Amino acid sequence: MLKGKLVKTLTTGSAVAAVLVVGMFLVPPKGRAANDNNPTQDEKLKIEIGARIAPVPLTIGRKDSSTVYLGSYLVNAVGGCNDCHTNPPFTPTGNPYVGQPKAFNAAKYLGGGATFGPITSRNITPDATGKPCGALLLRFRAGDPNRKGFR
Ligand code: HEC
Repeated sequence: MLKGKLVKTLTTGSAVAAVLVVGMFLVPPKGRAANDNNPTQDEKLKIEIGARIAPVPLTIGRKDSSTVYLGSYLVNAVGGCNDCHTNPPFTPTGNPYVGQPKAFNAAKYLGGGATFGPITSRNITPDATGKPCGALLLRFRAGDPNRKGFR
């Protein structure tokens, strides 16, 4: 009888301890950013940021808006495409390299024309095909002689 009660108490105690131990691992330590390792959530955040930081109004049309905003994130937050493909890249009072609050030159955004010695950056705004510089990937694949990459 006493033995049964002891076993029951120990079993309950172990269960409570197990819940506490598991719980310790579930709660992220305070003072550190919690990385949820959730790629879907991370992508949602990038899409939100991309929509917010686009320096020009984005034409969505029949495209998938999430894909457009994700592209904006890649171009504006990660790729730094504006730095070379907009000439000049910043407004006269928006150059972060001389301590001004950053403001992209929206009027010429990604219009190309910055020179690097003999090479000039291309206009990478969508053309009549809706893509930069024509059907770029197809041209690369076909070895089109009009392709304007590094030669
Ligand atoms: C360090 C400067 C620099 C950065 C940053 C840069 N580019 Fe370029 N890009 C160039 C130059 C210069 C050319 C022209 C090369 C040539 O004509 O040989 C070019 C060409 C291109 C072309 C045209 C290729 C073709 O075949 O016509 C595309 C598209 C392009 N860049 C897209 C991008 C994108 C997208 C980003 C951002 C992810 C980016 N570039 C960032 C300098 C840059």
